[in-house]
Amino acid sequence: MSVCLVGMPGSGKSTVGRQLARLLGWQLLDSDAEIERELGHSIRSHFEQYGEDSFRALEEAMIAKLAALPGVVLATGGGAILRESNRQALRGPGNTVVYLRASVDDLVRRLRHDTQRPLLQDVDPAVRLRQLLAQRDPLYRAVADHVVDTGRSSVSSIAHLLAMQLELGAPAAAASDQNLRPGDATDSA
Ligand code: S3P
Repeated sequence: MSVCLVGMPGSGKSTVGRQLARLLGWQLLDSDAEIERELGHSIRSHFEQYGEDSFRALEEAMIAKLAALPGVVLATGGGAILRESNRQALRGPGNTVVYLRASVDDLVRRLRHDTQRPLLQDVDPAVRLRQLLAQRDPLYRAVADHVVDTGRSSVSSIAHLLAMQLELGAPAAAASDQNLRPGDATDSA
């Protein structure tokens, strides 16, 4: 069994993933970090040299590999849900997919100084994030077993809530679940 975290850039996938992995005693894998490790350079520079399609092909291969591993918390890149093949891989046997939902305002606040995310450079981040969220929200929801609203919840409370749900064995079979709304969140990534 594995947990796959999906959501917009800045929704907290890596930070929640790190804490959740610690609580469960599982390994955290971050698909972007693994791609960068294989490439030997940043995703931003890969976008600049080879373009987004090239990155998406690398991402597809990486998601196929990582989503099939047991006992991991997998933090995915924000666009990983764009390809149907990735959505299927994330929903593979034994996996639980969690959508960390955040509002445009929260995402803008968390990412306004970002210099690493290629899709947010040289544009008004608020406009771009609004477009991306409108396009992607239905895809995040379609792939997710659970939707967690991160708006007023701390990273720690989200991670504890998810760990509890997973230990109760509820998630994998459940339909999308809007009811996981813990207290108070602030972290990004
Ligand atoms: C992307 C998000 C990034 C990274 C790449 C593309 C996107 O990951 O995969 O820059 O399409 O939203 P994060 O969600 O971790 O920022």
